[in-house]
Amino acid sequence: MFRVVQECLTNIHRHSGSATAAIRVHRQEKLLRVEVQDRGKGMPEVKLRSFARAGRIGVGFSGMRERFRKLGGTLEIRSDGNGTLVRAVLPIEPRREMAGQEVRRRRALGESKSYL
Ligand SMILES: Nc1ncnc2c1ncn2[C@@H]1O[C@H](COP(=O)(O)OP(=O)(O)OP(=O)(O)O)[C@@H](O)[C@H]1O
Ligand SMILES: [Mg+2]
Repeated sequence: MFRVVQECLTNIHRHSGSATAAIRVHRQEKLLRVEVQDRGKGMPEVKLRSFARAGRIGVGFSGMRERFRKLGGTLEIRSDGNGTLVRAVLPIEPRREMAGQEVRRRRALGESKSYL
């Protein structure tokens, strides 16, 4: 996810002409969603179409999309004359050690219900 944001910011700087970028991170129980949006000129139609078809455009997006596919996530691009939005979604697992910590914390608080 860090790499996606990095690549998107590089792309925005290099290709979009936008002076601003918005990064949104949204975490749900089993999903992490990151969106990077600019207000630049948008991607050329032909590149958008080729990404939608086979996932091939530049090395940056193609590599990211392949990695997301392997991890069970998705990488989408929406782009028009008002700018570009890249949305990356990855499945996430609750961390086991965190679960263990939570059990110990609840025990320490004297909660009677047993966890795990
Ligand atoms: N935010 C953006 N605004 C406008 N066009 C973009 C944006 N991001 C990407 N593009 C267009 O999509 C193409 C593909 O991007 P991609 O990152 O895959 O390759 P690249 O940046 O050209 O090369 P690199 O392999 O170094 O990343 C770019 O060449 C550019 O034309
Ligand atoms: Mg790039």
